[in-house]
Amino acid sequence: MSARLAVFCSGGGSNFQAILDYLSLGTRSSRVEVALMATDRKDAGAIARARQSAVPVAIMDVASRTDGLGALLAAHDITHIALAGYIRFVPTDVTASFRGRIVNIHPALLPAFGGPGMYGQRVHVAVRAAGVTVTGATVHFVDAAYDHGPIIAQWPVPVFPDDSADDIARRVLDVEHALYPRVVHDVATGRITLGSDDCVQGRPAPKLPFFSLRDAPALPDDLLDPPAS
Ligand code: GRF
Repeated sequence: MSARLAVFCSGGGSNFQAILDYLSLGTRSSRVEVALMATDRKDAGAIARARQSAVPVAIMDVASRTDGLGALLAAHDITHIALAGYIRFVPTDVTASFRGRIVNIHPALLPAFGGPGMYGQRVHVAVRAAGVTVTGATVHFVDAAYDHGPIIAQWPVPVFPDDSADDIARRVLDVEHALYPRVVHDVATGRITLGSDDCVQGRPAPKLPFFSLRDAPALPDDLLDPPAS
């Protein structure tokens, strides 16, 4: 039986589009069907993308979603959920009943720069203000707390001194588009699962693109010496 995926979006939906594109290739579409795009915003760019691909759209009434979301998902026979730029809290009855079958992408290396209020451009503004030299994207299973569930995959992205928050956002978004569809596919097809001990199983070994700690060059002995005056 193929998985029936619901994607939840609040914004432009470029990650949703990346999922649609990835799943439409080869035999993937017979294994995972994008069966619903659900949004809390009637002006979400993701709506046009869904209609273009003949994916059913649900515009949720935020005030009544606590009662209605489980029923909506059941009506569409949804087996898996991907949050893609969805900024609302998912009711705990849904995160509990979809445990191990609901994932989220966050545009930073969790647990850094995550949690309530840390979404969209705010993440990249905070990254820039903190002066970190590495950020990235994180895909994780969703539990009852914001940006908290077991981490499935992460990909680092460098931050350069002259980057604006927009520069960082663009660089991270490119990585999201490559990473998220693959993880969504692997979760929906059962290649990646969540064990009863909350450990992620079946995750491929991470392939870091520009450095790995194992290969890091030895630090020079005088790294922390004060500069010569
Ligand atoms: C992405 O950076 C996603 O990680 C974050 O919000 C952004 C949504 O972009 N949660 P889009 O709607 O997928 O274009």
